[in-house]
Amino acid sequence: MKNWIRLPNSEGNCIPAKDGSSGQKLYQREVGRSGFRGPSAQIYHRHPPAGWVTFEGPLRPRAFTLGKLSAGPACPLQARRVLFNDEMELRYWKTETKMHALARNADGDMLLFVHEGEGALFCDYGHLPFRDGDYILLPRGTSWRIEPHGTCEFMMIEATGDAFGLPDPNTVPGGVSVDPMRFTLPQIDDAFRAQQDDAFWEIHIKRRGAISTLTYPYNPLDAAGWEGDLCVVKLNWRDLAQRSASGQNVPPAAHCTFVAKSLSVSTFVPKVGEGKSGMLRVPFYHSNEDVDEFVFYHRGEFFSRGEIKAGMATFHPSGFPHGPHPCSYQEKMIEVPIETEEVAVMIDSMSFLNVDETIPAGAEWKAYVKTWEKAEETL
Ligand SMILES: [Fe+2]
Repeated sequence: MKNWIRLPNSEGNCIPAKDGSSGQKLYQREVGRSGFRGPSAQIYHRHPPAGWVTFEGPLRPRAFTLGKLSAGPACPLQARRVLFNDEMELRYWKTETKMHALARNADGDMLLFVHEGEGALFCDYGHLPFRDGDYILLPRGTSWRIEPHGTCEFMMIEATGDAFGLPDPNTVPGGVSVDPMRFTLPQIDDAFRAQQDDAFWEIHIKRRGAISTLTYPYNPLDAAGWEGDLCVVKLNWRDLAQRSASGQNVPPAAHCTFVAKSLSVSTFVPKVGEGKSGMLRVPFYHSNEDVDEFVFYHRGEFFSRGEIKAGMATFHPSGFPHGPHPCSYQEKMIEVPIETEEVAVMIDSMSFLNVDETIPAGAEWKAYVKTWEKAEETL
């Protein structure tokens, strides 16, 4: 933990924290270090922090419709790559067919988020049914396959050379957000035993990005039992504690669900609207200076992004503030708390993230960078 230089201070006109009233219309921007776990400051601007007129150069916000990516391939380890650096990979996989080979990732833990569909996962530890909204954490080296019931879509996050764990409760504002007792484990049940056969089975192994294949004259998912404290685990966003935060904005770090060395995965779940009467009810502007941010929108119409629908994703690299769209101000500056219904998964990376530029042009919304224009006039 860095020994930060922290000198609490207040200068000039700040919005009173308790009643939200202010004689002057101001725009709050939170500036934070170390993923908002380090020093932070609230700056109250006279103009929208994202009220830029032009945006030139390689640094820019981007948006993608991942649901437009084509289905396949058969092996999830080779699914369409969206983001990468030396410490993570994010892939998107759409499939509707039963896997006829096993997958094993020797490059790191894999976290699957089920965006669409349901089905059965079979792995070294047994049988695990899944549905939309599930996280499935596959420890590095686990052999697995799925049998989807219809079309399934997965966002797959690899902690390259690393493992996922839970956030340190001392760094989560408001306490622990993930209850380990909510995790579901695979079972050695009739369905698992029924798939054990003597056919030829392949295991596709990813190591250093390359695929190798082992072939067995039987199904290697042949466990009769197991014991220990290492296992595939499953958690649905519906099992995460809802945060009814009427009266206070909830800092992004409060939503952290899984962490690895240089990245965190956070889940935004439905909650009562934040803030009090007269205050902004959409997420405030923020500058997360040490982090590149990727958000995948799973359900609902995300309230800070008027044109962002389920199945889309946004990428906000460090270097400029981001926050609500103008339309969000118009629609959401309301006087009574509302129940949101949006669910999103956010990946924060402390290392520079690369977008895989082979993503088909049709899956990117190029005009996204222009969507903050005229932010002030619409207020
Ligand atoms: Fe953000």
